[in-house]
Amino acid sequence: MTQAPRHHGQLLDLVHRPARDLRISVTDRCNLRCSYCMPFDHYVWIDKKEILTFEEIARLARLFIDLGVGAIRLTGGEPLVRANLDVLVAQVAGLPGLNDLSLTTNGVFLAETVDALAAAGLKRINVSLDTLDPNRFRQITKRGDLEKVLSGLFAAKRAGLHPIKINAVIERGVNDGDILDLVEFSRAHGFAMRFIEFMDVGNSNNWKSERMVSKADILAVIHARFPLREVGRAQGTAPSVDYEFADGQGDIGVIASVTEPFCSNCTRARLTADGKLVTCLFSETGHDLKSWLRRGAADEDLRQFIRGVWSNRNDRYSEERLEALYSIEGYQSRDRKKIEMISLGG
Ligand code: GTP
Ligand code: 5AD
Ligand code: SF4
Ligand code: SF4
Repeated sequence: MTQAPRHHGQLLDLVHRPARDLRISVTDRCNLRCSYCMPFDHYVWIDKKEILTFEEIARLARLFIDLGVGAIRLTGGEPLVRANLDVLVAQVAGLPGLNDLSLTTNGVFLAETVDALAAAGLKRINVSLDTLDPNRFRQITKRGDLEKVLSGLFAAKRAGLHPIKINAVIERGVNDGDILDLVEFSRAHGFAMRFIEFMDVGNSNNWKSERMVSKADILAVIHARFPLREVGRAQGTAPSVDYEFADGQGDIGVIASVTEPFCSNCTRARLTADGKLVTCLFSETGHDLKSWLRRGAADEDLRQFIRGVWSNRNDRYSEERLEALYSIEGYQSRDRKKIEMISLGG
């Protein structure tokens, strides 16, 4: 296996990007069916015995930290459908060298779980919420109850989590009229609102560039009502470009992976619930870490496997998509089958 290039002890890929963040999917299951992510009624879920145990996840997390990862995010599917997630949070939060542990959730089960998660060491969360209109919420998520998400958000605030970010994917003709309501709500309650350009993730969300609302259009709507000042990207590498309100009452972010791709700074590795290492949100396949793990591999063998995968990474899907969007032929979403968003958790 190739020897990874090293820089300040960091593992680097083919275009010198270190592995700094690890997004761990703890389950591919979800209680919702958001149109932009998981439009299927029936789906073949990963078999339970293929799902990594908490001990396996915590061990891999420790090995990634050895290789330079400092931030871990737990995702799904919906991470809170996995029982006793606070037990995993406690195992991961205590790992030496980890600076940031966070969770991305749809918020439905947050009210009843957040106290245990906070007690286990979780400091911050991102909650998906695309509208404050109960009917539209149901239309987008098929199965969701807006009231439960709102009570989850307020319970998280009472539990002291900070920041609490709200993620809204904006789709033209669906919720582009909800932008200012979401801004007003988040300003009023101290949540950090982030707007996300609709992406062509997975294979079935029927993505068309015309259905995507661009960062420029989103900002124009907000700026006309609440003037903004650009702050930039956290750590220089975060997907979100942040803005503060000129009146000092909070901030917002926009994640523009379609119109302003950020692949050149992409330091994110992903681990699926069945233990595959994935180097890009738009990858066609993952690299099977679990079979090594379950064959009794030593720590150094597993680190070597991860080094080998990362050091051969050259993904830049969103930059390629932007180049294609500007080309004469126009853009066709990748014709080879991508991994579904539900298995990657964003
Ligand atoms: P913070 O650490 O709070 O900044 O979180 P985050 O924005 O990195 O994570 P979150 O799970 O809240 O994801 C928000 C949106 O960003 C989702 O739509 C993700 O799919 C998208 N996103 C996160 N990382 C990447 C990435 O590497 N590439 C692309 N294209 N999108 C990403
Ligand atoms: N485009 C953009 N963001 C998406 N997410 C899910 N599907 C898409 C998509 N097609 C977001 C969710 C969640 C995060 C993990 O990914 O809204 O907040
Ligand atoms: Fe919606 Fe998140 Fe579930 Fe996807 S994983 S269907 S975005 S709640
Ligand atoms: Fe990273 Fe792939 Fe997203 Fe580009 S498209 S930022 S390489 S995950």
